[in-house]
Amino acid sequence: MKLLLLILALSFNTANANTEAVNDDSKVQAKAIMSGVYESFIKVIPYVYSDENSIEALKKDPAKKAELIKNLTDISEFFKSAKHVEYFQRPGFRPSLDTMNSHLADTIVSVQNNNFAFAQKRLDALTSLCISCHSQLSAHGTANAFGDAVNKARREDFESDYAFGNYLYLIRRFDDSEKYLNLALEKALKESRSHELYSSLRRMISIHTKISFNYKKANDFVNKYKTDLRLPILAKTTLNSWSSSLTPWKKFDASKVDSIEQFIKTHLSPLEELKEQTGSDNDITLLIASGILSKYLNDHPQTQNAPLILYWLAIAERRLSNTYFFTLSDLYLKDCIRLYPKTALAKKCYALYEEGVQFGYSGSGGTDIPPDEKRELARMRDLLK
Ligand code: HEC
Repeated sequence: MKLLLLILALSFNTANANTEAVNDDSKVQAKAIMSGVYESFIKVIPYVYSDENSIEALKKDPAKKAELIKNLTDISEFFKSAKHVEYFQRPGFRPSLDTMNSHLADTIVSVQNNNFAFAQKRLDALTSLCISCHSQLSAHGTANAFGDAVNKARREDFESDYAFGNYLYLIRRFDDSEKYLNLALEKALKESRSHELYSSLRRMISIHTKISFNYKKANDFVNKYKTDLRLPILAKTTLNSWSSSLTPWKKFDASKVDSIEQFIKTHLSPLEELKEQTGSDNDITLLIASGILSKYLNDHPQTQNAPLILYWLAIAERRLSNTYFFTLSDLYLKDCIRLYPKTALAKKCYALYEEGVQFGYSGSGGTDIPPDEKRELARMRDLLK
């Protein structure tokens, strides 16, 4: 019922909004949708941030299973209604919103089919979609968001510091998140929990680079852990490479980026030749850049540099993201092509998109691209004409 009222309110608003007010109205609608998402999201938290056991228990508890499906369906309905809100149609949000809608549908199917291990992994990936939008908001963009409404869940609702730290990160309580992720790191080191170790290290470095750039905090963090004798060798290598790649950023002031074109030319263009390179050498640059670029795009959705920004966001996403359920990277590239087809950048976006698809479907026997993907490639290529 609440949902119906909201949808009615939304369509009423849209019909009456004059152009001047659209922006504010749209933000109010976005906030209303997010509050709705959050109300249902807190009910599914026990399944999101947990090991497989709690979700496996649903096998024997049809009522709880039905409740989970209902909550996921409610979240899904809210995100579907978001399609009509202009604010969510910004170039940086759209791919996340589209993915959210299909990912939720898949998650619900996994639960319905008792595919609980899979459902749990999907729920975990769901949170990276929340983050993919929230991490684009600048301090200025969140002036009124994430207020008291998001204070509902407490530490005791979570099974570990790691889970709570991740939740706090999602709702942009970064100072608190840092506190709990530090506790999680200590525990992960003590008990050799490698998933939590790597994931917490990545979250922490992302807070100090992508979310709110702070050289000193990033450097102190890396120095604190890089010599820790309990670190596995791979983590040590990563931290050492973060440490040396932080150095050139010592004097960088994120608030003084006047020209986004110049920023890209200085920091990103040199990476172009290294596109294929793996490893963590460029993590820091890409994290800082994706923070700067996505916030810029969010604050200036009409910028003529949008295709260039989408191109680089796609590259950053491709190298930094770690879920195998969806590739936001391709969606950034498709938006770059679809929304700005006549620009030179659209051709570059297409080339990168095609390369990714070919790479994804190549094996020892050559490339074998499925018909659907081939059609999508052709459709994108036609847009360039
Ligand atoms: C398509 C982009 C997008 C996705 C996906 C998204 N959010 Fe948001 N979220 C936003 C924006 C934009 C705001 C800020 C709205 C504003 O300016 O008030 C926000 C704000 C919020 C808030 C603060 C609302 C308030 O009343 O203060 C919460 C809580 C929230 N989101 C939860 C979630 C959760 C949980 C998920 C994932 C299940 C999620 N969001 C996924 C874009 C997104």
